[in-house]
Amino acid sequence: MSEHLNETRRRRTFAIISHPDAGKTTLTEKLLLFGGAIQLAGSVKGRKAARHATSDWMALEKERGISVTSSVMQFPYEGKIVNLLDTPGHADFGEDTYRVLTAVDSALMVIDCAKGVEERTIKLMEVCRLRDTPIMTFINKLDREGRSPIELLDEVERVLKIQCAPVTWPIGMGARLKGVYHLLLDEVHIYEAGRNFTRQDSTIFKGLDAPGLAERIGAEALAELREELELVQGASHPFDAQAYLAGRQTPVFFGSAVNNFGVQLLLDFFVEHAPAPKPRATTTREVRPEEEKLTGFVFKIQANMDPQHRDRVAFMRICSGRYSPGMKALQVRTAKEVKLANALTFMASDREIVDTAYPGDVIGLHNHGTISIGDTFTEGEPLSFTGIPNFAPELFRRARLRDPLKMKQLAKGLAQLSEEGATQFFRPLMSNDLILGAVGMLQFDVVAYRLKDEYGVDCAFEQVGVVTARWIRCADAKKFEEFRDKNAMNLALDAAGELVYLAPSRVNLQLAEERWPQVTFAATREHA
Ligand code: G4P
Repeated sequence: MSEHLNETRRRRTFAIISHPDAGKTTLTEKLLLFGGAIQLAGSVKGRKAARHATSDWMALEKERGISVTSSVMQFPYEGKIVNLLDTPGHADFGEDTYRVLTAVDSALMVIDCAKGVEERTIKLMEVCRLRDTPIMTFINKLDREGRSPIELLDEVERVLKIQCAPVTWPIGMGARLKGVYHLLLDEVHIYEAGRNFTRQDSTIFKGLDAPGLAERIGAEALAELREELELVQGASHPFDAQAYLAGRQTPVFFGSAVNNFGVQLLLDFFVEHAPAPKPRATTTREVRPEEEKLTGFVFKIQANMDPQHRDRVAFMRICSGRYSPGMKALQVRTAKEVKLANALTFMASDREIVDTAYPGDVIGLHNHGTISIGDTFTEGEPLSFTGIPNFAPELFRRARLRDPLKMKQLAKGLAQLSEEGATQFFRPLMSNDLILGAVGMLQFDVVAYRLKDEYGVDCAFEQVGVVTARWIRCADAKKFEEFRDKNAMNLALDAAGELVYLAPSRVNLQLAEERWPQVTFAATREHA
């Protein structure tokens, strides 16, 4: 097998999805520990503050290094290279999360055993479904009393509409937690709080009849387990690799992340079964990872360490070929050739120094405002990857300058912040207003803070009569012109110059849609 193919096939690129507090941060940390990237553990925990308050978030963002380096956590495990892409913790940054999910090949869903399926998990699952992303499930906090495992699986199947295939099964819960049974390996792994760090450190019984098991967990617990397993094996689905890869079935694990319990069983199974990089669609053809020439797309832009230099890092997922330092690539949108010098690679462990990157990997490109989310890079072919969405904002504000002479800086700042995906901004056709759109309230605070901090612009945001936005498309040029003339009052251009309908009310939007059947009112716009 060629080196390229070999390197591609051993990549596992994924993200963790969960409702806040289910244990995503803790699990991330444990995965890094098992992956030998221990030195990062502190930064994962430190980032936690991000969720708590705007001020915390800002203080933290000042130490930009944390967020940039932990955006992608790469580590070797059992001959595979795992890329864990971080998704922002705060609910207000949903858009970012959605885009990260376009750059992974699979996902890991964390569920709190006491709370079951929660609202944000449902939303994230919907996004995964758009691309049939394979999902593994970790039911966490088994050291606490929770709902019955059968009930939890039922809920996942019913609410998330995906088959469950339990791979491990809990023996007791809360204070009665004795361990888990691995249905495929036929092994009992004993729970010992504070231990169970690695396989070597675990007590494992081979099979339910293994000598000493009944004494260890108690005859009653064992009898109960046998009974439950009979029920589970009868009623649930056996693991089916094809169904998992097609996104129809989720293998389920039980454990306690904070106690290191059940995590390694999950990771072992993950590197064995999770998909290697898959082919990706472009507007013209499908790109296969084993192709020799480099292609990739930018799914995230983030401010870098030093706000003084306004240096920003564009994160590019490699879809085919190989990145090597100093190589030249075509930025398809601008038709310019750029040198990809000094790209950041993300090896969380310093044991392996890498300067090449393969499909599934993410590299960080230094960006001085020329790279946008959704940009495709190739070795010359004018391709454009599809499926990186911009979502219609639901919250709108008009930016009002305290110093009118700073108009130019304001427009520049907003253009750059919208490029990063921090906000979206719209310029109405009929006025000089600058209207900001966001998916979450916190985004406005962050934008105001960064405008002041990085661009020296003091501005306030005021209410504006807009409830939602729709991107306008129309194949019929004449109708389009007519629509534009008749609706100029409600139309604006977004940062990319695309026409957008800013609806003053839901009813207004509905009426406009009825009145103009030839016009498409799209709730998402793909970056192109
Ligand atoms: P998140 O990133 O999904 O928001 O969750 P995070 O890992 O921060 O976990 C949320 C809380 O749940 C944390 O407690 C964490 O310690 C706890 N937790 C995670 N895994 C387990 C587990 O297996 N069992 C139990 N009992 N708790 C778990 P916290 O009090 O919010 O923070 P901390 O001060 O303990 O870190």
